[in-house]
Amino acid sequence: MIKLSTSGPRLAQLLAALALTTSSLALAQTAAPAPAAQAKPTQGATAPAAPTQQAPVSIEAQVAMCIGCHGIPGYQSSFPQVHRVPYISGQNAKYIAAALTAYKNGDRKHPTMRSVAADMSEQDIAAVSAWYEEQAKGKVEAKEPSRQPTAQVAALLQKGACVSCHGSNYSNPIDASYPKLAGQHADYLFVALKSYKAAPGNSQVIGRNNAIMGGIARQFSNAELKAMADYIGSLQGEMQTQPQGRFR
Ligand code: HEC
Ligand code: HEC
Repeated sequence: MIKLSTSGPRLAQLLAALALTTSSLALAQTAAPAPAAQAKPTQGATAPAAPTQQAPVSIEAQVAMCIGCHGIPGYQSSFPQVHRVPYISGQNAKYIAAALTAYKNGDRKHPTMRSVAADMSEQDIAAVSAWYEEQAKGKVEAKEPSRQPTAQVAALLQKGACVSCHGSNYSNPIDASYPKLAGQHADYLFVALKSYKAAPGNSQVIGRNNAIMGGIARQFSNAELKAMADYIGSLQGEMQTQPQGRFR
């Protein structure tokens, strides 16, 4: 469903419409009022003059749009290839904020997430990131990963020194601006690794400019990246899908 588009605002409206559709389904069941904050006063040339006082936007309204993709278990994106949308519930807030900022400023090129992040202020990013961090499934206490890699994958992981930054169980990175990886969808991890590998500036629509991960990902073939992604995705982790039901 994710199509390339040069018109960011149009895409954003489409996404908002999608989120409205999905959230209103759930809301209808409880006969709760539709989230009024969905209609952003800043959107669209026909918006009426801003009232003197803006009602504070609730966190529910802020994440309503995210839920349309990140809140549906197993929800798939078809761009640049079919893969599951990443878990963000339970991820580190600082990393979520860094990722959203990178979509906003173009260091991450994924078109859908760019148009989502484009409309977010720094305060929105901070609030949404903090909310998602709190949704953790429960800490992975074991220092060791929940299962051991094959000898071949172990050699790859060692070559990339992955644990030195992402933590011995891939769920306790050395800095909160680094992501937890354990248990993340393997197909997404593979797409992410290939995005780092894509040369910066090579494409308008794929790629992630990140000096650290770019240098690492380029040391491996795609088959090797996939082998590592499959292993890390199979581990026990702290992330989960936070479904809409939470708001009922
Ligand atoms: C139309 C579907 C869709 C919507 C709506 C959406 N996302 Fe995403 N999101 C994605 C996809 C697909 C990716 C993977 C992008 C990539 O490959 O870089 C992603 C990636 C992310 C990432 C990076 C995760 C990581 O591990 O690096 C964050 C953070 C994120 N989204 C947060 C949000 C937030 C917050 C919202 C709501 C304000 C939102 N998304 C709305 C589909 C969506
Ligand atoms: C020197 C520290 C460092 C090392 C070593 C390292 N990483 Fe990373 N990794 C990072 C940072 C920092 C990020 C976040 C980059 C960004 O903001 O996009 C990241 C991001 C990632 C992501 C994206 C996760 C997501 O949710 O989108 C994956 C996948 C990943 N690393 C896998 C690996 C693997 C596999 C290895 C070993 C082959 C490795 N990393 C080694 C620091 C490191």
